[in-house]
Amino acid sequence: MPHPVLTKPGVRWALAAGAVAAGAWWFGDQAPYPYSQRRLLDLQLPCLTSSNLDSVLRPRPGERMLEVGPGTGLQSLHVAPQLGSDGRLDVLDIQPEMLDHVMRGAQRRGITNITPNRADARELPFADGTFDALYLVTALGEIPEPERVLAEAVRVLAPGGRIVVGEFFDRHWIPFGTLHRLADGSGLHLAGRHGSTFAYLARFHPCSAAA
Ligand SMILES: C[S@@+](CC[C@H](N)C(=O)[O-])C[C@H]1O[C@@H](n2cnc3c(N)ncnc32)[C@H](O)[C@@H]1O
Repeated sequence: MPHPVLTKPGVRWALAAGAVAAGAWWFGDQAPYPYSQRRLLDLQLPCLTSSNLDSVLRPRPGERMLEVGPGTGLQSLHVAPQLGSDGRLDVLDIQPEMLDHVMRGAQRRGITNITPNRADARELPFADGTFDALYLVTALGEIPEPERVLAEAVRVLAPGGRIVVGEFFDRHWIPFGTLHRLADGSGLHLAGRHGSTFAYLARFHPCSAAA
């Protein structure tokens, strides 16, 4: 038996309106991940582990890479040392608190080849063809207009470069099929993938490099 209060029409309408508003916020909110909840970003997500990122991204000494949306730097601090003293990792985030956090972590570990950039991923402040590789882990789905982000990613990629996207089943998740379609529309072809549609790392190359 429902509680007598719940049977009153006014209360039921209020509950329904509340549920719709909560759903709209859950699925529609595209505010950047709050720095106050940063501790969760230090956890390795199933399938999106550092070793799986290595096998899909394949960082090599001397490369110049860009990480978009590094958060607190879980991946940045793992990838940058692999690029060596001749390589460089640029990290780009819209929130200065995230960039400061990454740089503090780098300083503690003696990592000197990370450069922070505060910018919106929809307008990358880099010249065409700058990077050997670019990656985003649980970031693309959080940024409005992901197709613009991918177009910018393709623009700043050097010939023969690669883009790696990692997504996880959270409220900003991009199902793999959706990403594949977006990538296709941006002139990217799939070169490798680890995981399922709910948690995956996928590597793409510009189609021009496939020919
Ligand atoms: C969920 S966190 C992911 C952090 C990290 N990649 C990880 O896997 O732990 C998403 C990151 O994207 C950043 N971000 C959100 N919108 C952005 C935008 N428009 N341009 C650049 N970065 C953005 C957030 O500030 C945050 O650092």
